[in-house]
Amino acid sequence: MSKSVLVLLLLYCSNTLVAQTHELRSPDNKLLVTVSVDEKGVTYALSSDGSPLIRPSNLGFSFKHQSSLALNLTTESVETNNHDERWETVWGERRFIEDKHNALTVNVKETGASERRFSVIFKAWNDGIAFRYFIPQQQELNRLTITKEHTTFAFDRNFRAWWIPAYRNQCYEYQYSESALSSADAVHTPLTLEDDDVVMAIHEAALIDYPSMVLKNIDDNQIIFNADLVPWANGDKAYVQTPFFSPWRVIQVGTKAADLLNSDILLNLNAPPAPDTNTSYIKPVKYMGIWWEMHTGEKSWSPGENQGATTERAKTYIDFAAAHRIDSVLIEGWNKGWEGEWWQRKPTFSFTTPVEGFDLQEVTRYAASKGVTITGHHETAAGISWYENQMEDAFAYYRDLGIGSVKMGYVGTRLEGKEWHHGQFMVRHFNRVVRTAAEHGVMVNAHETIKGTGLSRTWPNIMTRESVRGMEYNGGSPDTGNLPSHTVIIPFTRGLAGPIDFTPGIFNFDYQKHRPHNRVPTTLAKQLALYVVLYSPLQMAADLPENYEGHPAFKWIEDVPVDWQSSVALDGEIGEFLVTARQDRHSENWYLGAVTNHEERQLTVSTHFLVPGKEYLVTRYEDAADSHWRTNPSAWQMKSQRLKGGDTLKLNLASGGGAALQFVPL
Ligand code: NOJ
Ligand code: CA
Repeated sequence: MSKSVLVLLLLYCSNTLVAQTHELRSPDNKLLVTVSVDEKGVTYALSSDGSPLIRPSNLGFSFKHQSSLALNLTTESVETNNHDERWETVWGERRFIEDKHNALTVNVKETGASERRFSVIFKAWNDGIAFRYFIPQQQELNRLTITKEHTTFAFDRNFRAWWIPAYRNQCYEYQYSESALSSADAVHTPLTLEDDDVVMAIHEAALIDYPSMVLKNIDDNQIIFNADLVPWANGDKAYVQTPFFSPWRVIQVGTKAADLLNSDILLNLNAPPAPDTNTSYIKPVKYMGIWWEMHTGEKSWSPGENQGATTERAKTYIDFAAAHRIDSVLIEGWNKGWEGEWWQRKPTFSFTTPVEGFDLQEVTRYAASKGVTITGHHETAAGISWYENQMEDAFAYYRDLGIGSVKMGYVGTRLEGKEWHHGQFMVRHFNRVVRTAAEHGVMVNAHETIKGTGLSRTWPNIMTRESVRGMEYNGGSPDTGNLPSHTVIIPFTRGLAGPIDFTPGIFNFDYQKHRPHNRVPTTLAKQLALYVVLYSPLQMAADLPENYEGHPAFKWIEDVPVDWQSSVALDGEIGEFLVTARQDRHSENWYLGAVTNHEERQLTVSTHFLVPGKEYLVTRYEDAADSHWRTNPSAWQMKSQRLKGGDTLKLNLASGGGAALQFVPL
């Protein structure tokens, strides 16, 4: 039952003032959205179980060349709706997703002479709420240049916040700061917030043709944030054509940190694929490739003596992949244009010409003969027009060679030398990429691209993306490596935006020949646990074949699935630890990953996710008694035990450690 009601509150001031209040409740009645409409505009507020989370907050727009659409409004009508559906994913953390929500649309118009109209559509699930704008086509509102979105989030309290800074040069590739919310200035979403009895995350969904939303601290008490739209180079924020739907502004709510990970709100806010969408070529896979040896300085992307991409080296990877159930092999530096400091100049890449010493035709032929696929690579170096001019040919070239997935990237501080990686320019470009890839039957894994907003539901060939400070920073990027807490923060922050191509699986911790200051800040067992904890349908085994060959722990990487029937975050504290369990989509097997920060810890885990009373053989890949991420990262142990579904497990995690467990029904 929709709890949405229209209450007209008659308040008398010197002039008669009519504030119209509309309410929307979540299906379990806990979350309450209150919408008010009057001469100050439309505001919304959010509470949970009667306790405020967001105080009355503004909505509306300012435009170039016409007055703002924000003040002097009245409700024309409201519409309510209840929705209860179960839908099947093409791939994902869960095969089936429940979508049970209530909806309220508030249609408003201006009270002055112009009578411009718009609507705000609210939806409430038990695990969060979302709202978006709809501007119907009107004579005065047709082609619009938006200069400001007025949406604010007036937080009730100075929550503890986990955030990365916006308007800097490294895209989303930062370690997260943990601070009082009031210390955050302009931050990317997801922004994750916590207080004693509540967790929240602010993000957006269905970002299709609009700039991304940054949250900007705008008031003196420093807990009111504006939905700051990342501008075009000329300062305009967004170009839209009515009828126009904005992206959804999403507020996830839970009582404990793990609740944030067990929510499907983002996918539920995106449209299903068009009925004629071809998904036959879409398949989650594991891949390895000529990559880490470049990041550690052993090899180079540049052609010549130290060139990483050679036909012979690719065949070494293919042989290993074929022998060890790895589906695909990536080769970076395969094409012309990588000479010297390629990231410092305008791009010279050809996306259809292999470099000397690398025969892509022969490599794809050899791979196919071994049952392995090739993952293509497009590094654009942020040169969008250079890339777009070749894009059709580039994807056709891959399709003709049978290359069904591409890793791509946008290294550079600004696109085309001037545009942010997070503005409408990039959103539009990336959607062109995804559609072109789909036309040619190619899956996409993008680095340095726009954050995820759940669009992989609509375009299921958007498999995964980086948009995070990944493993590469432990290898050789300008910075030293990540902190041990990093991988215990990102599931609760960046992970809420969708799959992460973090590229786990480093087995050899002794790679400091060219990188004396870089470390992988985990134990070996934690590297294994990341395959469960960090979700990605294209999951890399990032180390070299030589470092895997003969290592008994590689059996875990061979076994661990990349597509899941169900997933559950069992327990966790942001930045401290996380325990996640997932069931394989194609068997009754379960997999569990547990990770900790620099603190060693003992965890007691209930296996209630298994079939109660059923017996399982558990294979445990764990830290050894003397494992430590800094002093002894390679130490690990493997044990087996029998267990009945519902039994409890004890896990001992070393400093920077983890545990990876496989449960096979007996
Ligand atoms: C940055 C990507 O994140 C990394 O994976 C890739 O190796 C380099 N760019 C080169 O394209
Ligand atoms: Ca990167």
